Amino acid sequence: MTNERSQPARRSTLAVPGSNQRMLDKARTLGTDAVFLDLEDSVSSLVKVQARSNVVTALNEGGFQQGAISVRVNALDTQWFDDDISALVTQAPGTFDCVMLPKVHSASQISHVSSILAKLEAQVGLAHESLGIEVQIEDALGLVNVETIAASDSRIRTLVFGPADFMASINMRSMVVGAQPDGYTEGDAFHYVLMRLLVAGRAFGLQVIDGPYLGIKDLDGLRVAAHRSAALGLDGKWVLHPDQIDIVNEIFSPKQDAFDHAELILDAYDYYTSHEGGARGAVMLGDEMIDEASRKMALVISAKGRAAGMQRTTSFEPVS
Ligand code: GLV
Ligand code: MG
Repeated sequence: MTNERSQPARRSTLAVPGSNQRMLDKARTLGTDAVFLDLEDSVSSLVKVQARSNVVTALNEGGFQQGAISVRVNALDTQWFDDDISALVTQAPGTFDCVMLPKVHSASQISHVSSILAKLEAQVGLAHESLGIEVQIEDALGLVNVETIAASDSRIRTLVFGPADFMASINMRSMVVGAQPDGYTEGDAFHYVLMRLLVAGRAFGLQVIDGPYLGIKDLDGLRVAAHRSAALGLDGKWVLHPDQIDIVNEIFSPKQDAFDHAELILDAYDYYTSHEGGARGAVMLGDEMIDEASRKMALVISAKGRAAGMQRTTSFEPVS
């Protein structure tokens, strides 16, 4: 089973259409944690083959600064899927980390793709399971089956919400992808979906990523959407444009004082539970009582901050 704590940060994942050479070139230096080169819905069916070849070339040229590189293939039931996956692994082996699978709705689809990847890895001499899978949940059936999907294969690294396809799949009455539908004033229309993905992901050690906010010029709307999913505990969100990157990175990073506090709790807990510190279980840190559960919560914030490259600005001094 993979563990989200040992994975690279994915606060922001840049989506790059494989048919857009200028974006493929520019993506290399943009400051997102992750990137995926797209062969699916951002590419017209008329240029699917050209996009595949552009992506293979871009991967072989390399130079992507992001810590996690994926390629989104076309869905399993399309005429492009077989050639997408085999071209990527045989023509650009070792240049990317994960295949992103769109429109996943059953665990058997994952097993099928995993066995194809195993054969291709063997064919090109890559280690078994060196390629991961990012799973997009973006229709009603996918959500109904999300727990069995999440549990189904050790290649799975992330569950990714696809709001555009999902909104269409459930007939949500809105065309503004990622934003709340007009007329729904009672709460967050995406709460149930995001929470269900989050619980499934956490149960099986996967990162959980929110999808795109399509209102590129509406940076305030992006902030609201990103804050909602970051507050729930999701790990990150897609970005479609350079203007979205800093906002998403900042919102999905712990605040400096929260990071410092988490690090202090970890040090204090280690010290006070040791023989030297009195072998205690629950102790006071300033005005706050901390115990094993506080340590677990602090670990989450500390891991997110460290993965994002944060440095602490305070240090722990034991008081006896
Ligand atoms: C992304 O793939 C979406 O459907 O929102
Ligand atoms: Mg989609």
